[in-house]
Amino acid sequence: MKALTVIPLKAGSAALSDVGDPPESDGPILVETLAVGICGTDIEIVTGAYGWPPPGRERLVLGHESLGRVLEAPAGGPATKGDLVVGIVRRPDPVPCANCAVLEWDFCRNGLYTERGIKEHDGYLSERYRITPDFVVKVDPALGILGVLLEPTSVVAKAWEEVDRVGGRAHWDPRTVLVTGAGPIGLLAALLGVQRGLDVHVIDQMTDGVKPDLVRDLGATYHTGTIADAVPGGPDVIIECTGVSSLVLDAMSHVGTGGVVCLTGVSSGGHAIEIDEGALNRSMVLENVAVVGSVNANRRHYETAAAALARADPSWLDRVVSRRVPLERWQEALNRSPDDVKVIIEVNPQ
Ligand code: BGC
Repeated sequence: MKALTVIPLKAGSAALSDVGDPPESDGPILVETLAVGICGTDIEIVTGAYGWPPPGRERLVLGHESLGRVLEAPAGGPATKGDLVVGIVRRPDPVPCANCAVLEWDFCRNGLYTERGIKEHDGYLSERYRITPDFVVKVDPALGILGVLLEPTSVVAKAWEEVDRVGGRAHWDPRTVLVTGAGPIGLLAALLGVQRGLDVHVIDQMTDGVKPDLVRDLGATYHTGTIADAVPGGPDVIIECTGVSSLVLDAMSHVGTGGVVCLTGVSSGGHAIEIDEGALNRSMVLENVAVVGSVNANRRHYETAAAALARADPSWLDRVVSRRVPLERWQEALNRSPDDVKVIIEVNPQ
């Protein structure tokens, strides 16, 4: 079968390869891949900046934002033939650490976890894949191809759970949230904020195109200026979805008193900026500001995300998936254009 593979840490090595059938060792459920979303992590992997091959191998099958249809499944399991499913990305470490032992692999303590399509385990960007029942999540069939948004939504569902838990350290009744970045993660974070009944603000650089419209059509407010201008006095919550260092620091300095900043974007590093650390320290302490990093998602977050997507307006989700590229033209999916939101590769178009 065909699969999009890459030699991790080797730029320009991505190729459409012929690989063998999915190994039985990956699990008894056989899934036909319908589509796979491309995100910043995939771009980092194909540009040679991130990723790990499976042990003893040179190439890794790419793809962690999946949507597929079950071809074969053992009786009595969570999914049956014909179901639309998404595969969870991370697998617990084999030790296991205290967190992986209780299935909170998103908080793995020793770094020995694996991730499909990213770290030491083939991904989902192949015509078929196999998976074990405990790592498969069923998607509302009404979502169809839009179920491909489940994995990025699980990442923001986890971020919101962290915000709630950290905010719950004292009386917590948030009203305003500001999201930095109107890419897929920012838009999905904003969607969950709107679903919670919050006053949602999104900051991005784009002055026109699809992103401002998507924000406004959610009932949220779109801004292109600074956080201080967008929400004078500071929002209760900031979900940082860009990883741009200046915005990260701006978020920490301008969240409201007692507020929570959740960092979900990954900075590339190497861009030192000057800050007044003393002033930042002073405002964070005197205003009880909390900053929390958030990565990955466990099954609970996938289930929260599946419910959130099922409640969302499908025509809005359909515009978030801004470009669909057939597998044979995979290069086009990796070349980003400024108006792209979520680009997906259709592996077996239905
Ligand atoms: C994925 C996460 C993963 C992270 C780090 C993200 O793109 O959505 O599941 O944990 O990359 O590898």
